[in-house]
Amino acid sequence: MKMLKTLAAAALALCAAATVQARPLAEIQKSGTIILASEGQYAPFNFFKGKELTGYEIEVAEAVAKKMGLKYEWKTVGFDALLTGLAQDRWDLVIASHGITEERAKAATFTDPHYCSGGQIVALKPEIRTAADLAGKTVAVQTGTSYLQHVKEVPGVKEVKNFPTDEAARSALGSKRVDAWVTDRFVAKEMLAKAPKAGFKTGDMLFVEKVAAAVTKGNQSLADAWNKSFKELVADGTIGKISQKYFQEDVTCK
Ligand code: ARG
Repeated sequence: MKMLKTLAAAALALCAAATVQARPLAEIQKSGTIILASEGQYAPFNFFKGKELTGYEIEVAEAVAKKMGLKYEWKTVGFDALLTGLAQDRWDLVIASHGITEERAKAATFTDPHYCSGGQIVALKPEIRTAADLAGKTVAVQTGTSYLQHVKEVPGVKEVKNFPTDEAARSALGSKRVDAWVTDRFVAKEMLAKAPKAGFKTGDMLFVEKVAAAVTKGNQSLADAWNKSFKELVADGTIGKISQKYFQEDVTCK
């Protein structure tokens, strides 16, 4: 009897594990639809234009999915919840400007990068330009980002203020609640172009990073298929065109 109970418990545990298993490529192909997740609050990479989710990495992901012969379905959640949801297999792939870091690579498998960028200092005062200039200053960053991680390492920073979205970090600078904002260099470039009157000035890059999509840790069949289609779309100029549309330059890694 005891043995039976143990067996039953083991079987149950197996079933539970199976339901939270990542979908390998074959299973996604069988269903015909890949479940993609992003944030939707990080223009021009992923954002809402009215009700429509769009942006560089949204268009890239949709092109890759099509190339893979799949339909796609989007989920949008807060940046903080994206990798957690991936680990729980609530979606197949996350594309939301995650820089490839060692820490993240412990919990997820990254695809090849779809752009190369880095964190840049943005301020209103022209004298705040370099990492050294951040000493004694208050700096705004989005929670859970590589910007937070790197600003923490800058010696002498008075305070790092966390915001749930990058836009909220930006408005903190706009209303002078902080001295500087650290964000992606292409986000900063777009912001300066779109709102020249805001008086934002870009300073140095604090660090560089390769930005990639992520799949559940070890879901290599999906990562491989994604990479293959992405490469083909780089080669045929599709990715370059999407990049030009949003940035007037090629943001892919050279
Ligand atoms: N590139 C930065 C990072 O790796 C920021 C990403 C922010 N993405 C977003 N969808 N808000 O953490």
